[in-house]
Amino acid sequence: MRVISVINYKGGVGKTTLTANVGTELAWRGHNVLLIDLDPQSSLTFSLIRPEEWHERYKDRYTIKAWYDAFESGNELPMQNLIISPQRVNDRLDGNGRVDLLCSHLGLINVDLHLAAHLGGTTLQQSKRKFVEVHGRLAEGLSSLSQEAYDVVLIDCPPNFNIVTKTALVACDGILIPAKPDYLSTLGTTYLARNVNMLIEEYNSYANLPGGDPVEVIDPQVLGVVFLMVQEYDGEPIASHRQYIAEISRTEDMHVFPHYIKRNDTLFGDAPKNGVPVVLQGYDSGRYGGVASGLTGVVDDLAGRITEIEASMAQQEEEEQGRTLPRVVWSNEW
Ligand SMILES: Nc1ncnc2c1ncn2[C@@H]1O[C@H](COP(=O)(O)OP(=O)(O)O)[C@@H](O)[C@H]1O
Ligand SMILES: [Mg+2]
Repeated sequence: MRVISVINYKGGVGKTTLTANVGTELAWRGHNVLLIDLDPQSSLTFSLIRPEEWHERYKDRYTIKAWYDAFESGNELPMQNLIISPQRVNDRLDGNGRVDLLCSHLGLINVDLHLAAHLGGTTLQQSKRKFVEVHGRLAEGLSSLSQEAYDVVLIDCPPNFNIVTKTALVACDGILIPAKPDYLSTLGTTYLARNVNMLIEEYNSYANLPGGDPVEVIDPQVLGVVFLMVQEYDGEPIASHRQYIAEISRTEDMHVFPHYIKRNDTLFGDAPKNGVPVVLQGYDSGRYGGVASGLTGVVDDLAGRITEIEASMAQQEEEEQGRTLPRVVWSNEW
């Protein structure tokens, strides 16, 4: 099970659109996918579920808010029991893979305050325990799921860096950053990368503290930036968009996905109402030309990037073992 957080501080850059389309395309390719809507605005939820259905069936019990609330009140609520299966998108998947959903709720806004109240402590040990407990909450929930149930979990994060967002970053293996090719969105990606690194350092400094239960350190990898809402002229991004894409590509350590998602207000504006993301709608000709191939291209890029990162991590591990192995053998002789 690979866990990917889709995040950018800025609203309206395409986080939800990217989460829905990447998840659905992966399911089309045969994977079992869990989408988690961590944004109180609940756009992902309402892109897949009709509002009246959510009100009637899911609002009170089947949301990620209910799950965080259970933590607050000290109850156990298995995450597995809260997951639902959105019908319209799954009908279109023809049984290839499937898309499941953990819905959001406007009340998730308050969860940050409740979680914050759990932090702190009179001793370092206590602070460590609470910090890890609170920030590791989502990681713990995901580890309680059957690891065979899902190939990929995609988390649609809210546009902030509050505690709930941090639980997603602690829980994930990879971070995907959607951006619009404009000044403020590109500015945001640099801040984001910096804050992610600070969070990783802080979490791991607690994890490495001696005493208490051992805590695994985290090492989420920034997968890269995906551009959405790109306008083309003659098959190329227009000059101003090209400039912002080039600017991020030049940023040190920031990978930009070669494929991007073209702007099309009609297709992307209507898709949430239909409950089926654009990538499954089969448009790729005439005035819709290049929209679907951009979306599937981004998923190809993502798969390639994950393979590349995993290979390099495996190699690094091997090298580290290679270095330590002689020492172990040597000390055994004594
Ligand atoms: N490629 C695109 N072309 C046109 N509109 C888009 C495109 N991608 C997203 N949108 C629209 O932009 C708005 C913001 O996208 P959304 O995915 O909700 O962003 P976020 O989750 O970051 O707030 C939505 O109305 C969405 O339909
Ligand atoms: Mg959103």
